[in-house]
Amino acid sequence: MRGKFITFEGIDGAGKSTHIEWVAERLRARPDTGHVVTTREPGGTPLGEDLRQLLLHRPMHLETEALLMFAARREHIAEVIEPALARGDWVISDRFTDATFAYQGGGRGLSLDRLEALEQWVQGDLQPDLTLLFDVPLETASERLAGARSPDKFEAESRAFFQRTRAEYLRRAEAAPGRFRVIDATRSIEEIRVTLEEILASL
Ligand SMILES: Nc1ncnc2c1ncn2[C@@H]1O[C@H](COP(=O)(O)OP(=O)(O)O)[C@@H](O)[C@H]1O
Ligand SMILES: [Mg+2]
Repeated sequence: MRGKFITFEGIDGAGKSTHIEWVAERLRARPDTGHVVTTREPGGTPLGEDLRQLLLHRPMHLETEALLMFAARREHIAEVIEPALARGDWVISDRFTDATFAYQGGGRGLSLDRLEALEQWVQGDLQPDLTLLFDVPLETASERLAGARSPDKFEAESRAFFQRTRAEYLRRAEAAPGRFRVIDATRSIEEIRVTLEEILASL
């Protein structure tokens, strides 16, 4: 049986990376999940990780950025995600295509039609079975990031950029309520885990 594909989304500092290994462990403890792979975007393959370095640190044309995101994603799907799901493994990815719509589309203003064309090309029918959107106001995210790590190209963006990015994430969640679960990530890590546990129980 094909495995399930779960993605973690949200602006920088929302708490995705904080919860991903915990969720993977909870799933591994279940008898019905088998192997659980955790991965991330951009990245997830040796080539993808090289592209990640360029994407996070090199200034580039907006469309180059979107194309490289989808190039890294093509490799990730071919080398990691599809083979894993076909074997019956579960895959949890720290970001996927919703992030490209939110950042390059919402944040930077690239046409959503163009992104949809690339999505269709690179993914075909592949969509996550479940997307967990960690939602926090910008103030909370930037307080959490202050001092936590030195900002990359995206993390150094303006408040307005993150406002548009968050708004596009929320718009997508509203448009696909069957796939998305929006998590109020302003709460404590323990409280968020209770919610995550409930969501995982329904999978
Ligand atoms: N619920 C929370 N309450 C307080 N601090 C948090 C919470 N979740 C994450 N953090 C802290 O916020 C920072 C950013 O979290 P992280 O998981 O790296 O976010 P993301 O991966 O979404 O960018 C980290 O220092 C982390 O320890
Ligand atoms: Mg992270």
